[in-house]
Amino acid sequence: MGDWKEVCTEDELAPGDFRTVWLDDIEVAVINSNGKIHAIENICTHDGGELTGGSIEGCEIECPRHGARFDIRTGEALTPPAYEPVRTYRVKIEAAHVYVSAED
Ligand code: FES
Repeated sequence: MGDWKEVCTEDELAPGDFRTVWLDDIEVAVINSNGKIHAIENICTHDGGELTGGSIEGCEIECPRHGARFDIRTGEALTPPAYEPVRTYRVKIEAAHVYVSAED
């Protein structure tokens, strides 16, 4: 079923932490937001900056370049200068390992 890529173990991803992983040619940020793990494309929809490296607070991540904020759970752009959402990816936990998939 599907094309899952292993990211890390659950233990390696504490709340507020992230890992990045490549799915084909797209870098995906896998983030522990309030104890739940989500995955979003690691590219800001404002001007292509990497989102990781910005602050993670609860379910929001702030782009370190110009400060746009995104909802980590849905990818929704919450504040300008970004208006378009970032793509989200499926996450599963199996035997304490975290996996992501590009498939919908
Ligand atoms: S590149 Fe992210 S806010 Fe501008």
